[in-house]
Amino acid sequence: MSRPQQITVLGATGSIGLSTLDVIARHPERYQVFALSGFTRLSELLALCVRHVPQFAVVPEVAAARGLQDDLRAAGLSTRVLVGEEGLCQVASAPEVDAVMAAIVGAAGLRPTLAAVEAGKKILLANKEALVMSGALFMQAVHKSGSVLLPIDSEHNAIFQCMPQDFSRGLSTVGVRRILLTASGGPFRQTPLSELAHVSPDQACAHPNWSMGRKISVDSASMMNKGLELIEACWLFDAKPSQVEVVIHPQSVIHSLVDYVDGSVLAQLGNPDMRTPIANALAWPERIDSGVAPLDLFAIARLDFEAPDEERFPCLRLAQQAAEAGNSAPAMLNAANEVAVAAFLDGRVGYLEIASIIEDVLSLEPVVALEDLDAVFTADAKARTLAGQWLNRHGR
Ligand SMILES: NC(=O)c1ccc[n+]([C@@H]2O[C@H](COP(=O)([O-])OP(=O)(O)OC[C@H]3O[C@@H](n4cnc5c(N)ncnc54)[C@H](OP(=O)(O)O)[C@@H]3O)[C@@H](O)[C@H]2O)c1
Repeated sequence: MSRPQQITVLGATGSIGLSTLDVIARHPERYQVFALSGFTRLSELLALCVRHVPQFAVVPEVAAARGLQDDLRAAGLSTRVLVGEEGLCQVASAPEVDAVMAAIVGAAGLRPTLAAVEAGKKILLANKEALVMSGALFMQAVHKSGSVLLPIDSEHNAIFQCMPQDFSRGLSTVGVRRILLTASGGPFRQTPLSELAHVSPDQACAHPNWSMGRKISVDSASMMNKGLELIEACWLFDAKPSQVEVVIHPQSVIHSLVDYVDGSVLAQLGNPDMRTPIANALAWPERIDSGVAPLDLFAIARLDFEAPDEERFPCLRLAQQAAEAGNSAPAMLNAANEVAVAAFLDGRVGYLEIASIIEDVLSLEPVVALEDLDAVFTADAKARTLAGQWLNRHGR
């Protein structure tokens, strides 16, 4: 039997990171953990190192690295601790590594994920923000290095599974008419508009079907997550924004669909558990046990669909406009959203102000071409500054 594949898990302490480690632990003969990273939850990172015995762990700064290194030694482990973005890029591109789970949340994941792409690794892409910010450059790097890019977002993984058989070999989407991107509608799908101004971060994070990190949970409530996913789908599947239709499907059983010119519509179904797309991508093109229970259609009994309400979900409209504008617009949208969501989670702004901040930022800055990564980070920084100015102007 061949040696187990070496896996780096960026963002190991998060929701996707933990689900990935759960799947990996079910298949010790196939996968071994090469490196794990954490950011604030460092005692959890230590526990994960004890459980999975990686060669490397990565933390954000030197003092934390010293502390973790001492704790690892005391636990009898030879795991080496690396620091910061440089450490993340190192474990993402190390020659021993076969696949990288990119599960850091937000713009912070871009450089390490790109380092893995440039090194030609198999990329399990959860960090959608990387693709939203720098789609053209990211996809160019994928084609140049020959990296295999496998989507982890349940919707994109579903679309990937429903694409023509030769899609993964030559990016052929011949015969595809539309992508139908499903959305649960989140916790506020039926909340009266008059009540949305006063919803709390905990209410926004109480997703009806999925258990996720707090940033993506707020994005799901506002449907910015679906907007980011629309942009992600355009890059992954070589589609125009007008070819991606968002469909609200409250049960989250159909994870997305592909509509073909002959009238066939293929869908992927499953219980809402991220271990399914993770196992699919880890083992692709084979199939492995993910630990997810079989789907019980009799218990589900019905599947509903509705069109999204623009008034209730202004973030979706803003993302659709940014997708159409292209160039720097998605990176600015993403950065403004990160600042606005962090301010909402800190209790500094109300839920409805998230969309106001993003709309304000996008209206203030012209859309420009992004020639290189520096231009991406310049657009990102500009949007963060403008969003910060909005917060100052409004005394937050
Ligand atoms: N959760 C889902 O079901 C789901 C589904 C589809 C796609 N995704 C995408 O997957 C990514 C991760 O989501 P999640 O729900 O797993 O988020 P999460 O639970 O908040 O985890 C985020 C991970 O990133 C680390 N991190 C945060 N800020 C960082 C920084 N500045 N530098 C380096 N590391 C940092 C965190 O470390 P600490 O925890 O130690 O602070 C944690 O390991 C996101 O891009 C999200 O959109 C998630």
